[in-house]
Amino acid sequence: MTTRYRVEYALKTHRRDQLIEWIKGLLAVPFVLLSQPTAVFEEGRGSVSQMAANAHKRYSEIMHDVEELINDHIAHQRKGLHDRSKLKLLVPSVGLFFTPLLLQEAFVYQDRRRYISSRRFVAPSFNDIRLILNTAQVISLVRGGPLELVTFDGDVTLYDDGGSLSDENPAVPRILDLLRKGTRIGIVTAAGYTDASKYHSRLYGLLDAVSRSDLPLELKENLIVLGGESNYLFRYSDASPARLEHVPRERWLLREMQAWREEDITGLLDVAEKALKDCIVNMRLQAQILRKERAVGIVPTGKVKLGREQLEETVLVTQKILEMSDVGRRLPFCAFNGGNDVFVDIGDKSWGVLACQRYFGGIEGSKSLHVGDQFLSAGANDFKARLACTTAWIASPAETVQLLDEIAELDELAH
Ligand code: IMP
Ligand code: MG
Repeated sequence: MTTRYRVEYALKTHRRDQLIEWIKGLLAVPFVLLSQPTAVFEEGRGSVSQMAANAHKRYSEIMHDVEELINDHIAHQRKGLHDRSKLKLLVPSVGLFFTPLLLQEAFVYQDRRRYISSRRFVAPSFNDIRLILNTAQVISLVRGGPLELVTFDGDVTLYDDGGSLSDENPAVPRILDLLRKGTRIGIVTAAGYTDASKYHSRLYGLLDAVSRSDLPLELKENLIVLGGESNYLFRYSDASPARLEHVPRERWLLREMQAWREEDITGLLDVAEKALKDCIVNMRLQAQILRKERAVGIVPTGKVKLGREQLEETVLVTQKILEMSDVGRRLPFCAFNGGNDVFVDIGDKSWGVLACQRYFGGIEGSKSLHVGDQFLSAGANDFKARLACTTAWIASPAETVQLLDEIAELDELAH
């Protein structure tokens, strides 16, 4: 899922984020009651600034109320009763929160940038609320600081889909600033390669900039790459030409991951491969199977662009078949739509982020942020990171840069 349109695209329930939709519904009421669309052609309907001030007040009151509901949910969580919170009744799909969310302040911050309250025809949107939630998360993290770990997805988060992180990428100096402050950085990507040079060719802009920088070696080594969702760990290394050194699994696997058996891994990939092959045949996809050690996928043959519907159908069919299989109940996996391919990986990003936290000595979820573009509940691979840490949902590499600027700005204000 790549473009803003696709993030907005919401025909089926798994294509909606229920918390965001619910907040959008709450804000729609004051929008309908307070916005003054006729003021564009009728005199005496009140000035835009008066309308905006009224709407701003009501929107921010609502955000404050939602903030309180989340605090109540967290209080229930602490007692092991999160299923009984009022928020859970209102939004059944809501999960656990690692920190409170300062939604009212975040709304004020985003309203200054997006002029949400000044709009007369366009109600507070999915993207408005997604960005308010991101800001609220950042405020909480920097106030409760220090932010100890930031993990980034690769495609669409740091660079365009299928692209690479080049020297000019504006995220590079910002990630260097985080490293300088002692924040650990993990690139937690689905892209699964056993070879460090392959990661160098995708991430060279960052790796080479770290190498050239005046950062002390111990801070440089706070950069790691976790590939194949949760399968291959590399750490930054000055000595290696690829600037990355492979870290053997026995040095970082979590106990639960050590129990994943090789025959189950092969078995799960066999089931997935068969399901993917059937999709190629049934929908006459111009695609071929790509089988790897810890993943299997379909990639287009030549320069074809596969249809969104075909990609989604392939993910949903394959996921269902795996969920129904014995091995799919024993082993975590992640089936997702990569924009122009579909992959099934062993493990998922919750394990990837947990492994990064553990590698750096046991960082807590409430001090750790995962930034990604795929947070829908099916066919999206960043979604699972929500089980391991706080998250920010971005829609493009440019939004990641904005988010990093927000972290720097709000961190400065907090200290
Ligand atoms: P991400 O957005 O960084 O998680 O990267 C996702 C993309 O990595 C997919 O869309 C694929 O194009 C690519 N990719 C390469 N190798 C693999 C693999 O082994 N599993 C999943 N995705 C892969
Ligand atoms: Mg991505």
